[in-house]
Amino acid sequence: MVRKNLFRQSSKEKSVFLDERYLYPEHLPDTLHYRDKEIDSLVYCFDPILKGKKPLNVFLAGPTGVGKTVSAKFVLKQLEENFDRSKSLYLNCFEFSSRAAILNAIANFAGAALPRRGLATDEIFTKMLESLKKCGFVPIIILDEVDQLLISEINSKLLYDLLRIVEYGKQSIGVVMISNDVSLTSKLDSRIKSSLAEQTIIFNPYTPEQLKAILSERAALAFLGGAYDKDVVNVAAAHAAKLGGDCRVAIESLLKAGRIAERENSGKVSLDNLQQAFGSVDAASLIKGVPHLNSDELALVKIISENQPINSGKIYEIYSKNKDAVLKERRLRDTLSNLEKKNFISSKQLKLGNKGITKEYSSSIPQQFLQG
Ligand SMILES: Nc1ncnc2c1ncn2[C@@H]1O[C@H](COP(=O)(O)OP(=O)(O)O)[C@@H](O)[C@H]1O
Ligand SMILES: [Mg+2]
Repeated sequence: MVRKNLFRQSSKEKSVFLDERYLYPEHLPDTLHYRDKEIDSLVYCFDPILKGKKPLNVFLAGPTGVGKTVSAKFVLKQLEENFDRSKSLYLNCFEFSSRAAILNAIANFAGAALPRRGLATDEIFTKMLESLKKCGFVPIIILDEVDQLLISEINSKLLYDLLRIVEYGKQSIGVVMISNDVSLTSKLDSRIKSSLAEQTIIFNPYTPEQLKAILSERAALAFLGGAYDKDVVNVAAAHAAKLGGDCRVAIESLLKAGRIAERENSGKVSLDNLQQAFGSVDAASLIKGVPHLNSDELALVKIISENQPINSGKIYEIYSKNKDAVLKERRLRDTLSNLEKKNFISSKQLKLGNKGITKEYSSSIPQQFLQG
């Protein structure tokens, strides 16, 4: 049988959304609550621009979903609205993951006309520098998820490129680096650190009450009145609090839950819908977290997913055969416990007769996402 009008909306379809775009990850809220101190610190960094001086380069750090990206965008948008001689370029280093890609993007942003044929990276750098010098505005480069660059030696060279612009280019340019890894600066060369991270702003997780308030506001904009219970927001906030104050997972879960409710045509987002949404959002965000694992963590998750359920003794046995293995047994157990806290793996305690207890580990990441 041929079905007609596959995409026709049923007239009986009950929407739950007033405007679902308020729940999109790229939505920039009009007001940011609970980030006054962080926003003031950012303003302090960019204020010199208004006086014709060089801005302070700043490093933002804190766990996932605590408002780092949104705060940076919020402040820079206001700066651009108030001062049209500054312009910012936002680059997520997951997307722009190589030195060449980033230099290209900055060159384009500064108005360079790059030939279509591929230029050598150093040539792109030269073109970029020339264009920055005459671009007529104060460029601000935001490198989000900057830890991605440091995974590879070649790409981390980009930080030296930026250093060269900042130090020798006589160019007023602002650099904002953002990372989930609070200790990132301690891994940076001291010259890079003192030039590109002149200020550090640490973002702490939101409290359960703060999450509730942020989510209530967002839900009221996104959902039709009466299309969700207060409980839905409270449970989403509690879930986010349990995950370490991650606001992003909560907002994504509300969006997913709304979509599930629409598919069910129930006209209302239920707690069940929300629970289903948690499952899929958590899996997706775990998979996104895989590239953030360091090489030991990744090796351990791989061993577990290929041999699960597996106890720590056996994990150590397999791990230590690896020629790059550096973790001793004690550190390996700490690493496992960290991976478990971040939900990449889970464990079950087993009693071993009178020999005490052992833990059996399983991986939460399907094997195909652990390649490469
Ligand atoms: N104080 C806040 N008020 C309103 N929304 C917020 C606030 N902090 C974070 N959010 C929202 O939570 C989500 C995650 O924030 P984001 O800035 O992407 O986190 P991070 O960059 O720290 O991982 C975004 O959708 C953002 O709009
Ligand atoms: Mg971010």
